[in-house]
Amino acid sequence: MFLSEKARVISPSPTLAVDAKAKRMKREGYDVISFGAGEPDFDTPDYIKSAALSAIDRGFTKYTPVGGTKEIKNAVSDYFKKQIGISYEHDEITVSNGAKQCIFNALYCLIDDGDKVLIPSPYWVSYPEMVKLCGGIPVFVPTIEEGFMLKAETIEKIIDKQTKVLIINSPNNPCGCVYSKEDLQHIAELAVEKNLFVISDEIYGELIYDDAEHVSIASFDNMFERSLVVNGVSKSFAMTGWRIGFAAGPKELIKAMENLQSHTTSNPNSIAQSASAEALNVLTQKGDGVIKAMVDEFSKRRKYMVDRINSMKYLSSTVPLGAFYVFIDISETFGKQCNGSTIINSTDFAQLLLENYHVAVVPGVAFGADNYVRLSYATSMENIKRGLDRIDQFTLSLK
Ligand SMILES: Cc1ncc(COP(=O)(O)O)c(C=O)c1O
Repeated sequence: MFLSEKARVISPSPTLAVDAKAKRMKREGYDVISFGAGEPDFDTPDYIKSAALSAIDRGFTKYTPVGGTKEIKNAVSDYFKKQIGISYEHDEITVSNGAKQCIFNALYCLIDDGDKVLIPSPYWVSYPEMVKLCGGIPVFVPTIEEGFMLKAETIEKIIDKQTKVLIINSPNNPCGCVYSKEDLQHIAELAVEKNLFVISDEIYGELIYDDAEHVSIASFDNMFERSLVVNGVSKSFAMTGWRIGFAAGPKELIKAMENLQSHTTSNPNSIAQSASAEALNVLTQKGDGVIKAMVDEFSKRRKYMVDRINSMKYLSSTVPLGAFYVFIDISETFGKQCNGSTIINSTDFAQLLLENYHVAVVPGVAFGADNYVRLSYATSMENIKRGLDRIDQFTLSLK
């Protein structure tokens, strides 16, 4: 076999089996309701599409600077100034093919073999794999006992001399929690004291509910030089397929990330850059009308979903304040049977729900939390109602 050691350490996605089965059942004609979506179910707004069409008409179809055009760097700079109160210069900003590439590039430029990277758990599936690909060691920081909140005291107990980077993700996928200003302040102080670099993945920063506030850890004292803020247009503007993400931080790191990108993918798509610049400029200059409409709709669905889940036998969930996921504790179903099969983990729960009631959810084991499943409410209210009716029947059938 020709596969490298590097390729061998990449784990297959644990969500794949359930996902593949859901797709197969759909093809076979079953009415499968899926709560697996990691992207808004809304269309990209028309004014953003028009900006892309105009870029094509203008012939803006050639290579651009590797880390993005002046136009998009201006737009990102204005956006961050408004959203998180930090002014970044152009050489402190870079643009990539999605937030995902920004995070990978950053890790590659920060980690040497054997360096440890702290990842709050439950976590987004790609963080540990990216760390391993870069030669680092993922170290998980538990948050479940703190209601999914990341606490400086917990981090402090885990840090050792090899620890170099901390990844934080607020609003959080999969938990939907939003870290408080106070907690972030303590984490920032610890990062300064222990000389940690922080990658702050703020991709869901626009999708917050009730009185939650999005605060960036980069905005605290002495954090500018030790943090990279990552965001993008995927989730905020329903633009997952356009593949534009951006990052801002110290210029040495940005330069290294751009050098790396220059030898891998080069610039992100020129047309998508133009469209994304328009998306950000309209938001900073005219306000968040489009996002607000989406957030209002998400919030309605979120409340409905949490109320229904918490009224069901064996299931419970906290109220998420960000992103578009509800993370459900299913541990009380363990040991119960459905049609003769016993549930002992989140994969069993998801498989049995899919096979018997044709509802697809993501098993929590994918996020390092086997007592949970994740439901996305980025799907229509009608689907949510029908899907939850079926989950209710499923839990009632357990013996
Ligand atoms: C926490 C988190 N970070 C980053 C990403 C990737 O975003 P992008 O589409 O910009 O690559 C996702 C997408 O699911 C995510 O959930």
